[in-house]
Amino acid sequence: MIQKAKGTYDVYGQYGKRLLYIEDLIEGLMEKYNYEYFRTPIFESSNLFHRGVGEATDIVTKETYDFKDRGNRDLTLRPEGTAGIVRSYIENKMYGNHSIPVKAWYYGPMYRYERPQSGRFREFYQFGVEVFGSNDPMVDVEVISIPVNLYKLLGLKEIKVNINTLGDSESRSNYREALVEYFRPYLNDLCEDCKDRFNKNPLRILDCKVDANLEIMKHAPKTIDYLNETSKKHFENVKKYLSALNIDYVVNTNLVRGLDYYTHTVFEVEAKVKGFGSQNVLCGGGRYDNLVETLDGPKTSGVGFALGMERLIAALDYEKIELPIVNNIDLYIIPVSENEKDYSFNMCMDLRLNGFIVEIDYNNRNLKNNFKNADRLNSKFVMIIGEEEVKTGIITIKNNITKEENKIKKEDLINFLDENIGE
Ligand code: HAM
Repeated sequence: MIQKAKGTYDVYGQYGKRLLYIEDLIEGLMEKYNYEYFRTPIFESSNLFHRGVGEATDIVTKETYDFKDRGNRDLTLRPEGTAGIVRSYIENKMYGNHSIPVKAWYYGPMYRYERPQSGRFREFYQFGVEVFGSNDPMVDVEVISIPVNLYKLLGLKEIKVNINTLGDSESRSNYREALVEYFRPYLNDLCEDCKDRFNKNPLRILDCKVDANLEIMKHAPKTIDYLNETSKKHFENVKKYLSALNIDYVVNTNLVRGLDYYTHTVFEVEAKVKGFGSQNVLCGGGRYDNLVETLDGPKTSGVGFALGMERLIAALDYEKIELPIVNNIDLYIIPVSENEKDYSFNMCMDLRLNGFIVEIDYNNRNLKNNFKNADRLNSKFVMIIGEEEVKTGIITIKNNITKEENKIKKEDLINFLDENIGE
């Protein structure tokens, strides 16, 4: 038997229903926030991610799915959504003719060759947003409020918002120098990857899972001590607007995030669910005021976030949160014999197009098994269509819960169902 590829999963049953419910909620929420739906390709030029996400990141050095197509082009399955949206923003010249800021939302599969474990897949789905063209800290907070409000709407209570700032380019480069000075004497104590990070991007050392418990990590310089006035002010305003929206947050000075493009605000939302382990980071994001320029666009501010759908659903399951999903049908139709099938089939389709959830027997079951099937599908009503019904157009409809029966004319069916469903 051929099995699914490692780190992937199939969607069906209750999981599928929960997923669709959340996708719907996201779509509605994005409409209220006035974001525009974007869809970019699942594969892009490898270069985009090398330059966008960062050459020294774990994502680019160890986790991308790279391939050559038949025209010998270097392509990569997107490991995240931001770089593709930025490419689209630049390529479609949205800085010229779009209303500013451009507020984009997206949803789709991402690919990272990571070691599969709970909450970590090789194919996973992200919902994210990117906002271009405003450096107002209010936008940082609008972005942070999106996952926070989504989690709240879904009933998740135990969440923790961690924020930090990396400052603007000047602050970041002062901080970088401080880190280099600090780590230089300890180079031999660091893992091989961090020795490489030391030269390419020393900030990444703080993010290392291997060296995380070294004593020297605890005393490393903190971004917050290297901020210039503009950066300090930006961060103070972010905190002010978070308070204005009553969003609880914690400043975590060790938060640097695993991608290279951030400036100023970075944030992550954690599920405070006991035993949730490594999958507790539900989402992450931040500001990236240089990325558009790095990818050959005009100087444009950007800020965004992305959340993993798998971790969100796992958190809901863990907290035993029920979602209002429909697990029943309105009507089950039983044609008595071959002769009534066309009449029944036509009625079934008509009722579906009038808004009812209708199923019909496709397996020529006997009456007993058909009633069993109606129960299995949690049908509210059952209709048996025999010779008499077809001839007279008068149908017996049975309430499958109260067992009460009503005889009604075919043309009155829609009214009857309208009045009796949803009570
Ligand atoms: P990220 O932190 O790499 O950020 O990923 C965001 C979220 O995607 C994570 O918090 C997690 O929920 C989910 N995620 C990441 N990797 C996996 C995986 N292997 N399996 C399951 N879920 C996963 C970004 O991707 C940035 N593009 C976010 C961003 C947007 N920053 C600015 N704009």
